[in-house]
Amino acid sequence: MIEITNLIKTYAGKVHALNGIELEIGSGMFGLVGPNGAGKTTLMRIIAGLLRPTAGSVRVFGHDLASQRGRQEAKALLGYLPQELGFYPNLSGREFLDYMAILKGVTDSQERKQQIGELIELVRLTEVADRRLKTYSGGMKRRIGIAQALLGKPKLLIVDEPTVGLDPEERVRFRNLLSEMAGRCTVILSTHIVEDIGHSCSDLAVMDKGRVVFRGAPSDLITQARGHVWTITTQGEQPNGSLAVVSTLQMHDGVSYRVLGQPGALYPSAQPVEPSLEDGYIWLMRQSAAVMA
Ligand SMILES: Nc1ncnc2c1ncn2[C@@H]1O[C@H](COP(=O)(O)OP(=O)(O)OP(=O)(O)O)[C@@H](O)[C@H]1O
Ligand SMILES: [Mg+2]
Repeated sequence: MIEITNLIKTYAGKVHALNGIELEIGSGMFGLVGPNGAGKTTLMRIIAGLLRPTAGSVRVFGHDLASQRGRQEAKALLGYLPQELGFYPNLSGREFLDYMAILKGVTDSQERKQQIGELIELVRLTEVADRRLKTYSGGMKRRIGIAQALLGKPKLLIVDEPTVGLDPEERVRFRNLLSEMAGRCTVILSTHIVEDIGHSCSDLAVMDKGRVVFRGAPSDLITQARGHVWTITTQGEQPNGSLAVVSTLQMHDGVSYRVLGQPGALYPSAQPVEPSLEDGYIWLMRQSAAVMA
């Protein structure tokens, strides 16, 4: 369980990255979504004990990160896959894991060998484990990154934008691997691919400009957009500016737009459609922008 209270982070006295976050995260897989600069990485680095907040408190399984002792105890329970993991291109996957395990304090070489062997199998890199990292594909690098985060058997796994740059198949495979992990530890996952969350998280928060603007299940986010999603077919002219276009499809008899908003009397032939998670997200971000404006 992670308890976050009134968390504030201001960089260099002027960049307000987190503006009073209140969040409780339970077990299973938790999704953190939001646009660029929302504060996702900042929040994850603070939970991982890598960055100190300006104010507020974070407790990780009861350990208060404000104290040196609390940070140490929390650190022993967590694994972190940063948004950009530095690699050692000339090390093999196995050598890299060995090195990271030593840094994590797995000093017994027998124990290290066993954990690394198990993890390589778990992330399905057995065949390439002795190849240099510079020969790995994006997906392989992500998987070795997860293996590295799982060294020392963490109870909390934090992964920042793990699916960026992966092809669709790798993305699905990686998502499944994370879901598998969520069976044995708490996983916090950040992404701006809303779809990744819908498929794997039961609980999520949407962040915008350093605030939590939504907290709930994916289905609750979808519900927010119900009654606001429509398709409109025109002869090519853009829909009225009050409507948000989420997709455009060229048809043989015109252009079909999927829009969010109220087409009303302007478009009497507008057809209501069932919202997707992405519609819910875009609708929420528009509401949030309107409130903040
Ligand atoms: N080291 C830093 N120094 C100054 N400002 C920073 C620093 N790191 C992040 N910021 C700023 O803090 C805000 C939040 O950044 P953060 O990286 O947490 O967002 P994010 O949600 O992870 O974005 P992205 O989706 O692009 O990864 C942004 O305005 C960013 O420019
Ligand atoms: Mg980030």
